[in-house]
Amino acid sequence: MPELQLALDQVTQEFRVGRRSVRAVDHVSLTIAPGQVICLVGESGSGKTTTGKIAAGLLKPTAGSVRFGGQDIWQLDHDAFRRFRRAVQIIHQDPYASLNPVHTVYDTLAAPLQHHGLTRGQAATLRRVHELLTLVDLTPPENFLWKYPHQLSGGQRQRVAIARALTVQPQFIVADEATSMVDVSIRVSLLNTLRRLRDDLGVGFLFITHDLAIAKYFGWEGSIAVMYLGRVVEIGPTPALINTPQHPYTRALLAAIPEPDPDLTRSKQKLQLRSLDIPSLLNIPPGCSFHPRCPLFEAGLCDTIVPELTPLDGRRVACHIVAREHANGHALPPAAAGTGGESTALSPSSGLNPSG
Ligand SMILES: Nc1ncnc2c1ncn2[C@@H]1O[C@H](COP(=O)(O)OP(=O)(O)OP(=O)(O)O)[C@@H](O)[C@H]1O
Ligand code: SF4
Ligand SMILES: [Mg+2]
Repeated sequence: MPELQLALDQVTQEFRVGRRSVRAVDHVSLTIAPGQVICLVGESGSGKTTTGKIAAGLLKPTAGSVRFGGQDIWQLDHDAFRRFRRAVQIIHQDPYASLNPVHTVYDTLAAPLQHHGLTRGQAATLRRVHELLTLVDLTPPENFLWKYPHQLSGGQRQRVAIARALTVQPQFIVADEATSMVDVSIRVSLLNTLRRLRDDLGVGFLFITHDLAIAKYFGWEGSIAVMYLGRVVEIGPTPALINTPQHPYTRALLAAIPEPDPDLTRSKQKLQLRSLDIPSLLNIPPGCSFHPRCPLFEAGLCDTIVPELTPLDGRRVACHIVAREHANGHALPPAAAGTGGESTALSPSSGLNPSG
């Protein structure tokens, strides 16, 4: 039997903003296999959540297709689409907003079980709710069953949200900043819970985070896709991206991590951006949209021609200069000071903050 993959093929999403339209996601292609992790990283507004919603079937892309098991989900009949929606669950960033405040933990987990006929009778439902709470490390389950969201900590609420996603036995989970609302101290434990679901249940993840350090931890055996203004600018195996980042933007993201992580520190190079400002989607720069910030910018090329993702050194990179230097057999040019304007590095406040 062919693997049941979830594939985004050249998806584009445009939104109307007043009389104009903005392109929040621009020709993004990703394929996730069962048990595989793809981390989507990038600064605020780069299109991560929009891409996640498209993958989960909550948004129909303006162009491109989403295929599940080889079938275009937007061509499925009603019943098949419902099966898809069950198979691909999304965990939203804010469990406060996604959990009903007047429902107990039991209500929250029992409702989908009963709605989808996954358990028969009260006793079976209660048993399954116990199992789910144990799976997400809310133990002993009886201590949590009758609690309301406001009686739980942020981490516990996020675990309930994960358990709810698991009620329908999904094959894929879109986890949108699933650990960013919790304290650093419990983040690792929550990430380990998610990892166990991947390893034990074979769940595939589209793991969205603005934090490359978390992507490294959760997705080391998987891949990272770096997004900038709606486009994927570098995608490849996590060790390659972390150890030998190629795109100037990936290098800037890595350089912004102040953590004493030896891998991340080793691959950090002094990279000074020409500007901290992220351009508006209403006014995307021509050519390479990163060019107003890029220290390797070359006039006449970078501000004119959009770089396409090109296979290179075990990953794909969208950068004219990196591709040219690679083709010439040269190492990546040093990302030295900018060629004008204020030279600066990305700071945590620009959207990449390891502490979330
Ligand atoms: N329904 C919408 N209507 C108009 N614009 C939207 C809509 N949803 C998202 N956008 C815009 O699309 C862009 C991408 O948004 P998105 O939420 O996908 O980014 P993100 O990478 O998840 O950001 P963050 O890290 O802040 O969560 C933003 O500029 C946002 O304002
Ligand atoms: S194409 Fe040019 S502006 Fe864009 S990332 Fe590469 S060097 Fe920088
Ligand atoms: Mg988001």
